[in-house]
Amino acid sequence: MSIEIPAGLTELLQGYTVEVLRQRPADLVEFAVQYFTRLRETRSQDGAGSGIPAKSGGKGVMFDGEPMQTESNGDEDDEDDDSDFEPPPPSRYNRRVSVCAEAFNPDEEEEDTEPRIVHPKTDEQRCRLQEACKDILLFKTLDPEQFSEVLDAMFELRVQTDEHVIDQGDDGDNFYVIERGVFDIMVRKDGVDCCFGQYDNKGSFGELALMYNTPRAATIIAKEEGALWGMDRATFRRLIVKNNAKKRRMYEAFVDMVPLLKSLELAERQKIVDVLGAKTFQDGERIIRQGDKAECFYIVESGEVKIMIKSKTKAAQQDNAEVEITRCSRGQYFGELALVTNKPRAASAYAVGEVKCLIMDVQAFERLLGPCKEIMKRNISHYEEQLVALFGSSMDLRD
Ligand code: CMP
Ligand code: CMP
Repeated sequence: MSIEIPAGLTELLQGYTVEVLRQRPADLVEFAVQYFTRLRETRSQDGAGSGIPAKSGGKGVMFDGEPMQTESNGDEDDEDDDSDFEPPPPSRYNRRVSVCAEAFNPDEEEEDTEPRIVHPKTDEQRCRLQEACKDILLFKTLDPEQFSEVLDAMFELRVQTDEHVIDQGDDGDNFYVIERGVFDIMVRKDGVDCCFGQYDNKGSFGELALMYNTPRAATIIAKEEGALWGMDRATFRRLIVKNNAKKRRMYEAFVDMVPLLKSLELAERQKIVDVLGAKTFQDGERIIRQGDKAECFYIVESGEVKIMIKSKTKAAQQDNAEVEITRCSRGQYFGELALVTNKPRAASAYAVGEVKCLIMDVQAFERLLGPCKEIMKRNISHYEEQLVALFGSSMDLRD
């Protein structure tokens, strides 16, 4: 008896097998349903056909807007010729429709077989991109080569007023860095939408769904016409998630001993490490300026930070003289007061010698340090006592 293998069957099963090996889903049947459903959608968009995803540039198959490698040539030597892969510009409307069960284990050393994605840029675009990325905390612990790969992979997006860049509950497709524009953060809880804050012409969002393979945790809405830089999920996982393993090794023990964070669960402290950035300041450098709008929270990793406040006497106010109130050293924090009270910075902070700080942005602070807020609030009366001791009266530190 002879068995005829239908045309296309081998390729069809090969495509599915490659995706299983790439994404390592927990449930093969569920993954098969998603894979073939998406394949059917692609086929109907293409106007029938064999159902086999089209090859792109002989390097990989394009499926759901993501470049996928059919096979790894395992040849690292010709990386520059072969592995820089220029995909069509991703569209944010072409969102992932299913959660694929990629396990999150930053300690796992995955083999780096993904094609490198490069979106070519003019010098002018690269300058704007570099400017937008210079304070992005998630990029602060990358080495220069990784950072350059990040810049290569990013693509430009324009958004219109009221546009939803991210919808809560969706699968994560891209990570975004803001070049300009104001964006509301809306979180729906128990059926009620609540505005959790705003990005004002700087910052980044969309990292959580990509880091932890969870649905989008918030809706991000453009309040005006704006410009963003996106990074696809595969590049984010290859560079940023991998770098989180390094960060955990470097900072976990330190974060565990920070007194303020002792009341948090271990998993909560790990999430803090994942979003922390690190920055070094030189002797005398100003870290915070009194009166400025607050954007970050700081923990001293090494060195000493001097907290200075403008004196309240008229004469001193005229020549802008500052008085030292206190110093912070390893394991201590500063820059929380303005975030807790929603007021401008109450004092300035300067590096004494070389100082290394771990930094968290205001959105992460709100999301992750809620349980520590009471401790921080209690500390305000200690600040007030310091000010009374110095000036005879306290300033209006509270909200
Ligand atoms: P992600 O869940 O991928 O998509 C929505 C993004 O909103 C999220 O990543 C964060 O980057 C950002 N975000 C900012 N503030 C919050 C918040 N309070 N809760 C959840 N997400 C937030
Ligand atoms: P913030 O107001 O955000 O920025 C300046 C920081 O200095 C402040 O948060 C506190 O973390 C820190 N600080 C330390 N001592 C005092 C004090 N006595 N009054 C105000 N700020 C203080």
